[in-house]
Amino acid sequence: MPHLHIESFKPLALPLKCGDVEFLFQADYKDKHGGALIATRYKGREFFLTHKKGDTKELLKSDKITRPSPNFLIKHSLLAYAECAKLHIIDSNVDNAPENTHLKTHDALKSISYFAENFPRDREVRIEIGFGSARHLLHQAAANPNVLFIGLEIHKPSIEQALKQIVIQNLQNIMILDYDARIFLEFVPSNIVSRIYVHFPVPWDKKPHRRVISESFLKESERVLCVGGRLELRTDSENYYRFALETFSTPRQSCFDVRKNQEIAIVSKYEDRWKKMEKNIYDVTFTCEVESPEADAIGDFSFSSTSISKEAIEALSRDTYKREWGFIHVERKFTIGKEGAMIRLAMGSFDRPESNYVIIEKGTARYFPSLPVRSNANLKAHILLDELLHG
Ligand SMILES: C[S@@+](CC[C@H](N)C(=O)[O-])C[C@H]1O[C@@H](n2cnc3c(N)ncnc32)[C@H](O)[C@@H]1O
Repeated sequence: MPHLHIESFKPLALPLKCGDVEFLFQADYKDKHGGALIATRYKGREFFLTHKKGDTKELLKSDKITRPSPNFLIKHSLLAYAECAKLHIIDSNVDNAPENTHLKTHDALKSISYFAENFPRDREVRIEIGFGSARHLLHQAAANPNVLFIGLEIHKPSIEQALKQIVIQNLQNIMILDYDARIFLEFVPSNIVSRIYVHFPVPWDKKPHRRVISESFLKESERVLCVGGRLELRTDSENYYRFALETFSTPRQSCFDVRKNQEIAIVSKYEDRWKKMEKNIYDVTFTCEVESPEADAIGDFSFSSTSISKEAIEALSRDTYKREWGFIHVERKFTIGKEGAMIRLAMGSFDRPESNYVIIEKGTARYFPSLPVRSNANLKAHILLDELLHG
């Protein structure tokens, strides 16, 4: 990651514009390690640079939580700060190369906020979970150009490989998301998905709670599938197959069927391997037969209007506030000038927690630089934080 090693850090009087880069305010760590975050705006993006103290030299780099992409945004901002504050750079891995247009964020790669704010519903939607080598996803997208395919994966090299192939094959109907499939479905409107493919999921025999298929996943699948839509599980794992049968056969109106060693049009790398080993392959298909009501609209992330006292911020405990839906945990506290405060918060579900910053100035709170993702667990975490801040 781009960084500068500097002799010593010099704060600037903020706000200040250095060329095209704006530095908005500085938030100082309140703990013994010291250091600061510098709120930065460049090319329409807001993020923090961070200053860390070391024994012999000090470091200026981007903050992990708000890190923008592509990297040139960070590099140019670091150099702009160093120039304006007249910092002495000891060494760095930062050049001043202009934006590389080949490295622009790929159009097919979406963030979870994209789906949370405005889920695409202009076409038939199919979802593939854990697409791996993406052979199946690419094949399906090429064969069905009018269908939107959303591919979920958490393994970054697989994502990069898929993005490359999307460009090479000039496919316009795939969106890729780096997100945990167990939580994604809550962002999907009811009755709009025609297929959910779960091909060769990790069996997690020792940690079954990490399996994609679960009672709650099945319930959410039934909600998002249209009538006649299907959830297709394909697995070589005898254990996973039995577990799926048990989960799928809990009483519900929709129906499922099971096949063994069924040929499909495209064979994934995993399937190739299992076939060579002459392993059995099981398909468990769940067909949705009911129309579901729309999911409840979730609220927003505004804070109550009554003034927040300094004592309420002080009283926020470093212990985790655990609830059955998830948690909040105040990780660090900051000061902004003489009167302002900021907290860094881990929040949301246990499976996919998020970190966010909350600024409290003149008695009112706001998230910076962006709101949490609109998930149910984040919203509950926000309500809990609001209660704690308002006593
Ligand atoms: C065994 S591979 C199968 C890949 C591909 N479907 C195939 O048939 O070759 C399972 C994939 O699921 C991904 N995965 C595991 N858990 C996931 C989750 N919770 N959300 C999204 N992807 C997940 C893994 O990163 C891995 O690439």
